[in-house]
Amino acid sequence: MNEHPAASRLAAAAGLPAGRPALTLVLPTFNESGNLAEAIRRVGQVLAGVGWEVIVVDDDSPDGTSALAKSIAVENPRVRCIRRVGRRGLAGACIEGMLASSAPVVAVMDADLQHDEALLPQMYALIAGGEADVAVGSRFVAGSEVKGLSRLREFASTVANETARRMLGVTLADPMSGFFMLRREIVDAAAPKLANQGFKILLDILSVSPRTLKVHELPFTFRDRVAGESKLDSLVMLEFLGLLVSRYLGGALPVRFFMFALVGLTGVVVHLISLRVGITVGRLAFNEAQLIATFVAMTWNFFLNNRLTYSDRRLRGFWGLTRGLITFYLVCSVGVVGNVGIAGWLNSLDQTWWIAGTAGALVGAVWNFSATAMLTWRVH
Ligand code: GDD
Ligand code: MN
Repeated sequence: MNEHPAASRLAAAAGLPAGRPALTLVLPTFNESGNLAEAIRRVGQVLAGVGWEVIVVDDDSPDGTSALAKSIAVENPRVRCIRRVGRRGLAGACIEGMLASSAPVVAVMDADLQHDEALLPQMYALIAGGEADVAVGSRFVAGSEVKGLSRLREFASTVANETARRMLGVTLADPMSGFFMLRREIVDAAAPKLANQGFKILLDILSVSPRTLKVHELPFTFRDRVAGESKLDSLVMLEFLGLLVSRYLGGALPVRFFMFALVGLTGVVVHLISLRVGITVGRLAFNEAQLIATFVAMTWNFFLNNRLTYSDRRLRGFWGLTRGLITFYLVCSVGVVGNVGIAGWLNSLDQTWWIAGTAGALVGAVWNFSATAMLTWRVH
């Protein structure tokens, strides 16, 4: 086979025996059975001069994408598939795919044909030739065109890009792009600090890596989606906000804590509404209504957290949910004791009432978050 000159140089420098892949392309998939085969066929065409491999990372798509990927792999030894069961998330899938690579250069591209694979050889030449550390397929530089986004999505994307640039000091035109290539060692170094949730993998890699990386943006036309549908929904946007805040605070707060706290705020509203209903409609005594409202709010918080904060490790089935709910109640009851205890103690030290109250609530929230992460959703 005719190897790209830069490719063989880089492969030799990395001590690669001939025939080992110099480039790993990660294709994350969720329900892409209508696109995957064509995507791989096109990749093979444009990368004919490079020793490439494709790793499909599929989150157990109900439409059988992983079975399809494996049947392609049987025919084509350059293709592999990681099937992840019980997990969801684009960023996590991309990270896992890149970490499974042993090639010196790794890339990520959407598997739905919206990205222009013709950019790959150019990106590869930039990285392999040492002209750039990171090459990005950009939707928002001169020469780019966006066909595959609704007006609203394009607007949201612009706002998100701008916010990200300001908050994190990233100077890219399209830090949200899901189409990029870089030396594997950059990902290896960044991996322990990356968030698994959400879509913003490139932004995350750049924000935890040294600022001296040379990033090169290449324009392309973001095509219309033909088969299947987009998975970017309001949950993904919420996770994005969480990621921004978390990174802005220097990673001091995990993304999940932010979402947990947001859910907690909605729980306060639910609590007050049920309290009012209990007193006025139910004609209950205050203490009874308060007790019931507490359980209503905890139940609300549990299900909302299970859906949003822990969308990637959602508890399911009767027993899963029952166990989850019971541990959640238990943890939060302890949280209330801590909350009231701390607030009362600070108040007795003559602190202002609202400082004492806020400190109590904060301690309660941190406890609830950490303990339910361990006991209810079993994050280690
Ligand atoms: N494994 C896995 N798990 N893959 C996923 C998941 C997931 O939870 N969610 C989406 N994908 C895959 C899709 O199958 C597709 O190949 C690719 O990731 C992009 O997903 P889309 O749902 O098509 O995203 P989009 O086109 O709406 O969003 C585009 O713009 C975003 C920024 O605004 C994409 O280019 C994104 O990559 C980009 O971040
Ligand atoms: Mn898409």
